Amino acid sequence: MKLICPLWMLSCVVWVSADVCIPEGCRRYETAGAESTLALETANPYCVPPEKLASAQATCGVNQVMINTPKDERGDGEFGHACVPGREKEFKYSFEQSLVYAVTLRSSYIHIMSGCIPPGSNESECRKTYVSNLKSAASALSKLGMQGLIEPINSYSIPNYYMNCYDKAISVINSVGSQNIGLLLDIYHLQTIQGNLTRSIADYLPYTKHIQISQVPGRHEPNSPGELNYGYVMAVLQLVRYQGWIGLEYHPAKGTEEGLKWVQECCPT
Ligand SMILES: *[C@@H]1O[C@H](CO)[C@@H](O)[C@H](O)[C@H]1NC(C)=O
Ligand SMILES: *[C@@H]1O[C@H](CO)[C@@H](O)[C@H](O)[C@H]1NC(C)=O
Repeated sequence: MKLICPLWMLSCVVWVSADVCIPEGCRRYETAGAESTLALETANPYCVPPEKLASAQATCGVNQVMINTPKDERGDGEFGHACVPGREKEFKYSFEQSLVYAVTLRSSYIHIMSGCIPPGSNESECRKTYVSNLKSAASALSKLGMQGLIEPINSYSIPNYYMNCYDKAISVINSVGSQNIGLLLDIYHLQTIQGNLTRSIADYLPYTKHIQISQVPGRHEPNSPGELNYGYVMAVLQLVRYQGWIGLEYHPAKGTEEGLKWVQECCPT
């Protein structure tokens, strides 16, 4: 059910946003199923038991590509805790939960959220914790043939988020030193953090396992008004021969179905 955009030889996935639950999650599965060409990534599948999602998935006939690790277990607005010193046990527990979901949904990718630098801690302490947690995650992932992803998120979207910079991400990936931890390159964050898109995409490509797209700054459909020309960006991805999925991580300005029409525009037959 991969959408192979004919000209670009790219695959596309639909983002099921942070707070959707069944029945909304199921409706999204059905919408994607109706397109019969798309797969899904789900930021927060944890509000529904995995078996129930798997059965919705089977009914609608779509593949799951990616899930995120739980971001907010204490309900206090956190964004994961892979970098948080002193919470390694919680990380391990929540990561195991992600593995259960990923296995049940047959999702190859897990986006491992870093969390924020907690008060009283600092960059180097967080880095140590993060790298060590990612190493344990990598070893579990390698046994299952799955990929963990880390994603720089811009500091306007999540102030104080630890993984907020591409050079840091590359350096962390090198320190972890595992084939099972790679980069999630969100073009929205890339533009917001540093711009320089053409060169950056080429530089980061060897680390990039998954890409997400949306317009800047509104985070709506790629063809909505904004800073980025996605006709060009898609051509760059084709030029560098990016082979993976493209996640449509945007807030549809016009509803999911209407919003998907951009695919025809950016991926002409
Ligand atoms: C960071 O925190 C650790 C643990 O509290 C401390 O040992 C270290 O000196 C701090 N490093 C910096 C650069 O402040
Ligand atoms: C743009 O990217 C290139 C290649 O990585 C780098 O050499 C250059 O410094 C970057 N430009 C800016 C303004 O960051």
